[in-house]
Amino acid sequence: MPVPVIIDCDPGHDDVFALWLAAGNPAIDLLGVTTVGGNGRLEHTTHNARVALTVAGVGGVPVAAGADRPLRRELTPAAWIHGENALGGPVLPDPTVPLDERSAVELISDLLAEAAEPVTLIPTGPLTNVATLLEQRPAVREKIKEIIWMGGSTGRGNVRAYAEFNAWADPEAADLVVKAGLPFTMVGLNISHQALITEEVLRSIAAIGNETSAFGVDLLRFFCGAYDAVEGMPEAPLHDPITVALAIDRTVATVRRSRVDVETQGEFTSGATAVDLRGMLGREPNADIAITLDVPKFWQLVRDAVANLK
Ligand code: RIB
Ligand code: CA
Repeated sequence: MPVPVIIDCDPGHDDVFALWLAAGNPAIDLLGVTTVGGNGRLEHTTHNARVALTVAGVGGVPVAAGADRPLRRELTPAAWIHGENALGGPVLPDPTVPLDERSAVELISDLLAEAAEPVTLIPTGPLTNVATLLEQRPAVREKIKEIIWMGGSTGRGNVRAYAEFNAWADPEAADLVVKAGLPFTMVGLNISHQALITEEVLRSIAAIGNETSAFGVDLLRFFCGAYDAVEGMPEAPLHDPITVALAIDRTVATVRRSRVDVETQGEFTSGATAVDLRGMLGREPNADIAITLDVPKFWQLVRDAVANLK
């Protein structure tokens, strides 16, 4: 039976591939997509989610917009990586996928209520919508099978010395979700930097030869160009789809049960995810931390999904 999934995202180049992996793999039943301010302003991330599904020919999946800013902080879009419209590179077609009139919290709540079984929630941006959902609709907890989040890091950060962007953008939301006591898997920079977009990866995706792959290669070339210019990394890490890959096949990565806490007070460390991998603090473990990626298996899942799309 396909795994029922809801993706909460901030497209964002890598978010697009997470959406495509979910839509293109038969082991996933993509119930809905919600958007959050993160890589770009909400109007851009929402437009881009609709564009991603339009390009791939994915219909019948509701898309609803959520929070336009973090719980307590200002939004700082990552335009330095994703561009001013949060999906720099190709010309974006007008989306044919409609915008659902419900809010993200309303759509997720409705989908969870209707689901025949508990649903896997896959946030690939700041956790503002998920935190708001858990605060406003606590009864939904029983219909959430697990949360698989792209965010945090067991090591250094990317937007700050010790903070990864999704955690840094809304540390209060991340803190609330991590402490919610739901089954939680963290896909941090420590593993996402194993999913590098090499020339071979680009060639193999281009060779798929459909519209989705052509659009995707344009996205990846822009993404790699930005990473090269900003981070000195011409082979950019494709962070977000690792979450969906884990929902498809748990063997795609090793995980370690650990304790993670989110720093919300630090002058220099706000947004840091303190992962106690060796249990030195004796605190109750609260997350599965993704550690090592089966890189060939991951990219094969991505290619197979893209090949199934338009
Ligand atoms: O730090 C990487 C994360 O921040 C990814 O989810 C990327 O899309 C951005 O949202
Ligand atoms: Ca993202």
